Amino acid sequence: MNGQAFSHQPVMAEEVLKLLEPERGHWFLDATVGGGGHAQRILEANPSATLIGLDQDTEAVAAARERLAGFGDRARVMTGNFRDAAELLEEYIDVGLDGALLDLGVSSHQIDTMARGFSFRRGTPLNMRMGGTTGGWRTAADLLNTASEEELGKIFRDYGEERKWRGMSREIARRRQQKPLRTADDLVAAASTALWRPLSPRDKARLFQAVRIAVNEELEALRDGLDAIARLLKTEGRLVVISYHSLEDRIVKETFREWSRECVCPPELPICTCRGHALGHRLTKKPMRPTETEVSANPRARSARLRGWIRG
Ligand SMILES: C[S@@+](CC[C@H](N)C(=O)[O-])C[C@H]1O[C@@H](n2cnc3c(N)ncnc32)[C@H](O)[C@@H]1O
Repeated sequence: MNGQAFSHQPVMAEEVLKLLEPERGHWFLDATVGGGGHAQRILEANPSATLIGLDQDTEAVAAARERLAGFGDRARVMTGNFRDAAELLEEYIDVGLDGALLDLGVSSHQIDTMARGFSFRRGTPLNMRMGGTTGGWRTAADLLNTASEEELGKIFRDYGEERKWRGMSREIARRRQQKPLRTADDLVAAASTALWRPLSPRDKARLFQAVRIAVNEELEALRDGLDAIARLLKTEGRLVVISYHSLEDRIVKETFREWSRECVCPPELPICTCRGHALGHRLTKKPMRPTETEVSANPRARSARLRGWIRG
């Protein structure tokens, strides 16, 4: 992969470095290494740090390896899903991590590569697998053509916050009996029939994001990944997460809050019996947001929310 061909601007890079404090430790994980933008900043911030980069997308792994080649053995990039971080990082477990970053969602490169099927441009195949063709999961077309109407309805309602989710799933079920959905145009046409109007770019973005979340089981992977990565952190190790969807942010917020609670007794107990110690504490009670300057330079940063947690 030619490094030039992989274009992705790292989001909230300054804020990430502030929370992660790479100069403080030696072992860092970038669990969504993408094109290696954040990874490069982390390695530059501490000349004695080693960074393990992970991505489920082999194209991203190739791009990150190329970009980080100058750091030699200090950058170790591998293919994998962060929900399997415990097994993937087995050899590093004794060392423990000083910090880990999750920059969720898709890269600009994935969106801009038509064959990957993430965009709603005309003619785009309904693919959307982050693991490319090697993931082994169903494509967006497989999902839309085989899932029950009920499952589709849940995807549009829960992930897409679509009020007309029933109509949309019914319309897809009706159309696929005549001809399977294959391209972005087929999905857009079904949704606009259900809504009785053409879709705005915003509608399309929400709809496609909902399908993408389902295809890649993104929320399940996030829950598993947070848990697996937190266990790999040393005391005082930091976990920093950028999310781009309210459901992702809610999972991060609730998980960090839960891990920061002193007492885990059920609320109905009159006194604390667990003598619990919090696993750590939050570095951010409210999410940090990108500056206006960053959003105008990089509109894809618009929905970013950054949260951090430190292990006690
Ligand atoms: C927003 S991009 C990261 C960009 C990166 N921070 C940079 O500066 O270039 C998100 C990346 O996370 C990867 N990804 C998403 N979910 C993943 C998962 N569960 N496991 C591993 N990689 C994942 C995607 O393939 C994508 O390359």
